Amino acid sequence: MRELTAAVLENVRIAENIYSLTFATEEAVPVLPGQFCMVGVAGYPLRRPLAVCKAEGERVTVCYQVKGGGTKSLVGYKQGHRLSVLLPLGNGFSLTPDMKRVAVVGGGVGVFPLISAIRAYAGEREISAYMGFRNRAAVCLRYEMQRADKLVIATDDGSEGYRGTAVQAFMEDIERAKPDVVLSCGPTPMLRALKNAVSGRNIPVYVSLEERMGCGIGACLVCVCDKKDGTHARVCRDGPVFEIGEVEI
Ligand SMILES: Cc1cc2nc3c(=O)[nH]c(=O)nc-3n(C[C@H](O)[C@H](O)[C@H](O)COP(=O)(O)OP(=O)(O)OC[C@H]3O[C@@H](n4cnc5c(N)ncnc54)[C@H](O)[C@@H]3O)c2cc1C
Ligand code: FES
Repeated sequence: MRELTAAVLENVRIAENIYSLTFATEEAVPVLPGQFCMVGVAGYPLRRPLAVCKAEGERVTVCYQVKGGGTKSLVGYKQGHRLSVLLPLGNGFSLTPDMKRVAVVGGGVGVFPLISAIRAYAGEREISAYMGFRNRAAVCLRYEMQRADKLVIATDDGSEGYRGTAVQAFMEDIERAKPDVVLSCGPTPMLRALKNAVSGRNIPVYVSLEERMGCGIGACLVCVCDKKDGTHARVCRDGPVFEIGEVEI
């Protein structure tokens, strides 16, 4: 993990309430798919955790939904604005060579860490992506999602693509997709639905958890989650990616 000063290159609206922020760091830092960064926002003592969507040399892109004060302030950051960033953080997704068929199941802002996985594995593994959004106005990053061999966009209201959730879309296609592994990120009810849906199928499922965070580096314990074995884990340091059966969801 490095504490870096970065300069904003671009900060643009890409969907309703969603922005894409690209910044340049002082030096290139290798980032694994599923890793995240903590972005400092002026006036807020705590940095905000955001998944890395894309990292190419010194250029890093994150996408954020405007939620509270911190992300609202971030919208005002223009080209050249300085940022303090901790990068890279967390474990990220890691696949074994035999995991050739990969399903990614994302919902809401949980789509963003999965974009980095699609970018990393496209071309070398067969990817089926099921990405859920509230409605058509919330759909973004189509060109990134389309790197997958098969893409199903799901919307709650059916205004684009499949009407229903990403998990429902995935389960309707699972016999065709025959995944060796599932990577997922999204709201807790979505992760629970996925866990129930795949139980008994003997497919490894890795989920990226989006707990509230303070420090992002394992020091404050704000992000602690319960593990199935009765112990605890720090989502920022031990995760954010866990095998679905390892943690209480
Ligand atoms: C590993 C990880 C990756 C994430 N990646 C993304 C992403 O790529 N895009 C995106 O839009 N959102 C992402 N989130 C959620 C994002 O961090 C929060 O929406 C954001 O911090 C809210 O900040 P705020 O100041 O706007 O809201 P406020 O509600 O005002 O935030 C108050 C405090 O709570 C924390 N907080 C609030 N909601 C969350 C949350 N869901 N997760 C973690 N901390 C939270 C904030 O960091 C801040 O310290 C991610 C969260 C985690 C843990
Ligand atoms: S956010 Fe501080 S320990 Fe995880």
